[in-house]
Amino acid sequence: MRWRIPVSLALVPHALALWPIPRTLKAGTGFLVLSPQFSINVNVADPPQDLLDAVSETEGFLKTDKLQRLVLGRGSSDAGALTTAAVLPSLTLTLQNTLPVLPISAEAVKDVANRSEGYTLSIPGDGKAAVLSANSTLGLFRGLTTFSQFWYDLNGVTYTNVAPVSIVKDIPAYVWRSFTPTEEGWCSQSYSRTVDSCLTLLAICKSFPVADVKRTLDAMSWVKINMFHWHIVDSQSFPLSLPEFPELAQKGAYSSSEVYSPADVQEIVSYAAAHGIDVLMEIDSPGHTAIIAESHPEYIACSQASPWSTFANEPPAGQLRLASPATVNFTAALFTAAARVLPSKYFSTGGDELNTQCYAQDAQTQADLKKAGKNLEQALNTFTQATHGALANLGKTAVVWEEMVLEHNLTLSNNTVVMVWISSENAAAVAAKNFRLVHAPSDYFYLDCGAGEWIGKDPEGNSWCDPFKTWQKSYTFNPLANISAAQAHLVLGGQQLLWTEQSDPQNLDSIAWPRAATSAEIFWTGATRPDGAPLEGTEALPRLHELRYRMVQRGVRAIPLQPQWCVLRPGLCNIDS
Ligand SMILES: *[C@@H]1O[C@H](CO)[C@@H](O)[C@H](O)[C@H]1NC(C)=O
Ligand SMILES: *[C@@H]1O[C@H](CO)[C@@H](O)[C@H](O)[C@H]1NC(C)=O
Ligand SMILES: *[C@@H]1O[C@H](CO)[C@@H](O)[C@H](O)[C@H]1NC(C)=O
Ligand SMILES: *[C@@H]1O[C@H](CO)[C@@H](O)[C@H](O)[C@H]1NC(C)=O
Ligand SMILES: *[C@@H]1O[C@H](CO)[C@@H](O)[C@H](O)[C@H]1NC(C)=O
Ligand SMILES: *[C@@H]1O[C@H](CO)[C@@H](O)[C@H](O)[C@H]1NC(C)=O
Repeated sequence: MRWRIPVSLALVPHALALWPIPRTLKAGTGFLVLSPQFSINVNVADPPQDLLDAVSETEGFLKTDKLQRLVLGRGSSDAGALTTAAVLPSLTLTLQNTLPVLPISAEAVKDVANRSEGYTLSIPGDGKAAVLSANSTLGLFRGLTTFSQFWYDLNGVTYTNVAPVSIVKDIPAYVWRSFTPTEEGWCSQSYSRTVDSCLTLLAICKSFPVADVKRTLDAMSWVKINMFHWHIVDSQSFPLSLPEFPELAQKGAYSSSEVYSPADVQEIVSYAAAHGIDVLMEIDSPGHTAIIAESHPEYIACSQASPWSTFANEPPAGQLRLASPATVNFTAALFTAAARVLPSKYFSTGGDELNTQCYAQDAQTQADLKKAGKNLEQALNTFTQATHGALANLGKTAVVWEEMVLEHNLTLSNNTVVMVWISSENAAAVAAKNFRLVHAPSDYFYLDCGAGEWIGKDPEGNSWCDPFKTWQKSYTFNPLANISAAQAHLVLGGQQLLWTEQSDPQNLDSIAWPRAATSAEIFWTGATRPDGAPLEGTEALPRLHELRYRMVQRGVRAIPLQPQWCVLRPGLCNIDS
């Protein structure tokens, strides 16, 4: 079937399949075919194995993506042009500087300030070799990701229709671009809802098999997300098995098969790092710790107290006895045991949804406070100093939820990174206190909202953060909207989050993708596209379709955003079309 592009459609720049869109980009309208002998040449002395693996993986995608163009006829009208198109023989990778060459895995876990993710890419349209250069293997990895997104398939011919391409410099606008499938914990975490006029947050932990974590890491790397925020334990389950504290998972995991062994953690951390992703592990405290009572009842106040909604934001109730010296010791030792197995410079101690009524009715906490001559806030400060001090001893930076700076009067290192989750409106207050922050606002970036209530015997209930956050809503987020120019440097980046009360491997992909890609672009590309125009959903939609269809080709079950009729006719399903 022949089909001609109506003039009005030619104006829609749907041919660019890149996500996130590079910060600088010049592209043509020529056809260029990938040679059947196409090769990627690594012009780097002693290339690290993970770089070679990334090259092999990219070569694999070029062969197996087999994505047809998302136009009527799926590219069949390109057949004629392809017979005369120039042929691209190879892509050469080079490093621009002479520093020692480190593996991607080593570059990916540096302090965010020291990560070098930028790259330069040139794809000539005349059959000369393409060149990708960067200052680090991590930058080369980002460039390979971009390179792999240009290609379509027609009857076994791999080609692009936007040659030549010149990306002078694509460096991320923000250093911290994350995704939090609270896995296993993805356990999940927090949900706030209103019950009897008290704010309630709910969470559930569910074990995700390592294969599902890896598939998620793959998809994250395809959109250049560089942090995996692993909220690995929560009130309901403790799947993390640590050699120093085997009893926590033995008694606290859902089952012996729903545990992350030390080998599992290493496998995930190594896999992530080789794909340019640092793992920020979180052990939430002092709240969201009820399950620790299964192995250490002595450390937990108001364990399974009823009604749970009085003592916790989610069932079951139970929090660390933060005023007890033995509990402080235990927690510091637990954080040390967990943090030392990860190469990341960051570790999250949580800190959301501390329930004061729980401590008010706990006789031991009251006795501990009396003995120490402290009030609860002072005891929380002691607890935080000790637990954050344990991380500092390992050279790690603590990450906390916003309540630790907005609701409590603590002495925190100015190095602490604060995640703003309750509302986007709270970022300004965190910045005003001069803390570095990561945007994780429930009103834009929570992926699980709008799917109904999971609490039983509440048939009229809704998710606490209704409505569902569409990709369009997430995509409107402006990281600097409420931040002064003088405080803009405090904004490290942002992340979308999936709390997993109602998800497991069966629906992980469909909840996360492609929506979680929206923040990936916001925080990589920044405020403007390469042509200087602001990020804007109408322009973005065809590119997001491309990403989604490519993800499906690669085995991630990302959901469709529109009927295919619309996908193949960009713009024709717009409300004013
Ligand atoms: C960044 O790297 C330099 C040079 O290796 C080092 O001196 C500095 O401490 C690093 N900065 C951070 C924040 O890690
Ligand atoms: C590589 O480093 C040089 C010197 O710092 C810098 O000018 C250049 O822009 C960097 N390239 C990329 C792609 O980040
Ligand atoms: C805390 O741990 C240290 C060393 O691990 C020990 O000397 C001290 O007695 C412990 N304190 C309490 C209250 O358990
Ligand atoms: C906060 O803590 C500091 C130091 O402990 C104390 O001086 C100050 O009064 C406290 N402020 C409030 C509002 O509790
Ligand atoms: C923390 O404070 C010290 C001393 O004022 C300063 O040198 C450092 O840059 C600050 N760190 C951050 C992350 O703001
Ligand atoms: C900025 O703050 C306003 C209210 O002050 C809030 O409605 C909005 O969502 C915030 N926007 C962002 C992007 O943080």
